[in-house]
Amino acid sequence: MSTTNLTEQRPYLGFGLGLRKEHFETVLADRPDVDWFEITSENYMVDGGKPLDYLTRIREHYPMVMHGVSMSIGSTAALDFDYLKKLKTLINRVEPAWFSDHLCWTGVNGLNLHDLMPLPYTEEAVQHVADRVSQVQDYIGRQMLLENVSSYISYNDSQMSEWEFLRLVAERADCLILLDINNIYVSAHNHNFDPLSYLTALPKERVCQFHLAGHTHENNLIIDTHDQPISDPVFELYAAAIEHYGKVSTMIERDDNIPPLAELLTELEQVRAIAENYFKDSEKNERTAKIKTA
Ligand SMILES: [Fe+2]
Repeated sequence: MSTTNLTEQRPYLGFGLGLRKEHFETVLADRPDVDWFEITSENYMVDGGKPLDYLTRIREHYPMVMHGVSMSIGSTAALDFDYLKKLKTLINRVEPAWFSDHLCWTGVNGLNLHDLMPLPYTEEAVQHVADRVSQVQDYIGRQMLLENVSSYISYNDSQMSEWEFLRLVAERADCLILLDINNIYVSAHNHNFDPLSYLTALPKERVCQFHLAGHTHENNLIIDTHDQPISDPVFELYAAAIEHYGKVSTMIERDDNIPPLAELLTELEQVRAIAENYFKDSEKNERTAKIKTA
């Protein structure tokens, strides 16, 4: 049983960025107008060194969340408790608002694919992943968020859509969802489904964070490269996500071709403007409705 239940509170952090080493100095010197940072957990799962020192100093000024890439929650290999122990140590050090990893598998039998592989969407896999998420949450003592990955393959054995699979895992494990809007767009293109079917299918109380990122077109596929600004269709999908889920903490992931921080701040302002325009409109509508019914 996890000890911190985020489902009831769904804390709202505002608009954030992924913390990247290229920006450590600027963040400390300028204290940019970013509501929070997401860190990649694996970069700091050590006892000391410069990155951890920067992290400690930046943490003094900003809320943080932790995002991992190595849990391999969908694998049939045993859970790696050495990894989880290090993760727990970092969680105790950073005190993040929450921690997350991907709904995927990254290897089996000692082999690491260094890629986030999708799962077959079967009842057996739902139970398998939900059991493992429950074990992780019990060990860490907190609920975790699971993120939808972008994918380029599918399995003949799948019995349900990806969004049904994600919903069932989240409900059965009582965990939260990190919805990557760009990944929905990428997978919708690659697997030919309507992104809005996915976007609107998840339990609202469990969607705790949004990711936004850029992608690259390659032949008939879209690849989730995180090396470009957010595309217009992904901004449009984000607007639909805000309309459907309301206030959800949102951040931009940029992992390659990293621009100066100022460029990402401008992009984050675009994100903020989309969301805040919608919030203003919906508050105005609510006020008008109240006046009409008074
Ligand atoms: Fe993501």
